[in-house]
Amino acid sequence: MPLTVLSLGEISPEMLYLDLMKRVLSDSIFIDHPLAHLVPYQIKVGTPWIKRQFLWMISGLLARYRITMAESNDSFTHEERVLAIANGTFWPARAHTMIGHKRLNNLQTCVESVLRHSVPGDLIETGVWRGGACIFMRAILKAYGDETRSVWVADSFEGLPSPSPNKYKADEGDQWHTFDILAIPLEEVQSNFRRYGLLDDRVRFLKGWFKDTLPIAPIDRLAVLRLDGDMYESTIQALEALYDKLSPGGFVIIDDFSLPPCAQAVGDFRSARGIKDALIDIDGSGSYWQRSA
Ligand SMILES: C[S@@+](CC[C@H](N)C(=O)[O-])C[C@H]1O[C@@H](n2cnc3c(N)ncnc32)[C@H](O)[C@@H]1O
Repeated sequence: MPLTVLSLGEISPEMLYLDLMKRVLSDSIFIDHPLAHLVPYQIKVGTPWIKRQFLWMISGLLARYRITMAESNDSFTHEERVLAIANGTFWPARAHTMIGHKRLNNLQTCVESVLRHSVPGDLIETGVWRGGACIFMRAILKAYGDETRSVWVADSFEGLPSPSPNKYKADEGDQWHTFDILAIPLEEVQSNFRRYGLLDDRVRFLKGWFKDTLPIAPIDRLAVLRLDGDMYESTIQALEALYDKLSPGGFVIIDDFSLPPCAQAVGDFRSARGIKDALIDIDGSGSYWQRSA
């Protein structure tokens, strides 16, 4: 199974631990188990964008009545599952993160870079779902013996907000708030951290809507800012509240860059701030840039 790749000659206990963490957090060690996947809307790799939008719309309506269009796991071949788990293109039934291996690898590379180059600041994810990407960030700090940085875990812990199209036109008609599967209580996320032995006072929770929590969060500096809030509103609010705290040399990771409202928020913010740092694609879904100044 071509999962996370360790090249021979580079293997250290830290890398082995982090490699195993990725396999467990993504549930890829059980890739062929019926519970490994939950694909609510027949979105297979390569589904045309227009069909994808149509399926999201229908399933959003059905979700209001608590009906999910769960696709049978049997309809995916092993190869399709490997591809889906690499690219994070499905909602997993029980994995602690949905972001897939390529975006986990990117997160690891960014955190390792700031550690290696002593870029000052904490790590944050805005939009954490079951917490897996934040658990992974805490694991990386632990693996390398960092004892100063915190991992900030920001979420409503009740799903996405209803859109405010008067303020954020790009979110008009957005249906994410209707998906119960995206509402994971704080206690469940804390319990997930505990399962890995990674819940301690260096994990800081920011519970509430981003518009309320992020502008007043008691964060001094950030080295990694990972955004995963899907909507225009959630993306722009996180950038506006937190970008100025990001150290030069630090990273902004945009999980949802393939979603047009999110990409628009990123574009609007970068234009408004004159940011020219190269936006680099991770896996066709996520993108990131390294702050130069
Ligand atoms: C796609 S999920 C995040 C996936 C996660 N990063 C992972 O590793 O699997 C989006 C999350 O963003 C949160 N969210 C989105 N917009 C928000 C907002 N404006 N305020 C608070 N939470 C928000 C939702 O509650 C949800 O948990």
